[in-house]
Amino acid sequence: MKIIIKDNYDEVSLEAFRVMKEVLDAKKDAVLGLATGSTPIGLYQNMIKDHKENGTSYKDVKTFNLDEYVGIDRNHPESYYTFMHKNLFNEIDILEENVHLPYGNSKAECDAYEKSMEDVSVDIQVLGIGGNGHIGFNEPGTPFTETTHIVELQERTRKDNARFFNDNIDEVPTHAITMGIATIMKAKKVLLIATGENKADAVKAMIEDEPSVNCPASALQNHKDVVVILDKAAASKLK
Ligand code: PGA
Repeated sequence: MKIIIKDNYDEVSLEAFRVMKEVLDAKKDAVLGLATGSTPIGLYQNMIKDHKENGTSYKDVKTFNLDEYVGIDRNHPESYYTFMHKNLFNEIDILEENVHLPYGNSKAECDAYEKSMEDVSVDIQVLGIGGNGHIGFNEPGTPFTETTHIVELQERTRKDNARFFNDNIDEVPTHAITMGIATIMKAKKVLLIATGENKADAVKAMIEDEPSVNCPASALQNHKDVVVILDKAAASKLK
């Protein structure tokens, strides 16, 4: 793992953009694995700015998102489909047919999503990390061998996300569809970004503990090209 520590969120976002831009510059039809959450918003803002100011084009780019809630419509204001369109896709020249997010509640839908990624192969997978060490919605205990699957969300994750649902945990969906850890590990490059003290324990377990299902992100120790970009608070518990 290559670990880069920056002073603050803006610098983390800029550094993450530099890593992303290298991939985009090397391959105009790059396949991007994308993530939702608060963390990658700054990265996406840098991508939008670069598209508008420098004309970087996404016409040949394909994207595959990590996960989506089960049980809410794609057009729900808090769906990840809505999030991605609002925070990135509507602001760049990507073609709608090249945008992919998992959707559904059945094994067949999971397998079809997995297959669609195998057909192209992800060049760079963007990840955040949960306070409990999850990547995508792979909660602690998820076997590293899982591919795209349906998960029940843990209480902590639903609490962390209640801020998007009127601060009411009862409105947060109980299940999600997510790429598995084995899916994520197939990406050629992984870019994980984490900021804030709330992530410090998970970051430490990801980097310094033996890989274990207790910290899903620790599986990344076995990936050959991972860049981790942290702010000082998220890095504060590292040796
Ligand atoms: P966050 O979520 O970026 O909103 O902190 C990260 C995650 O749970 O993966």
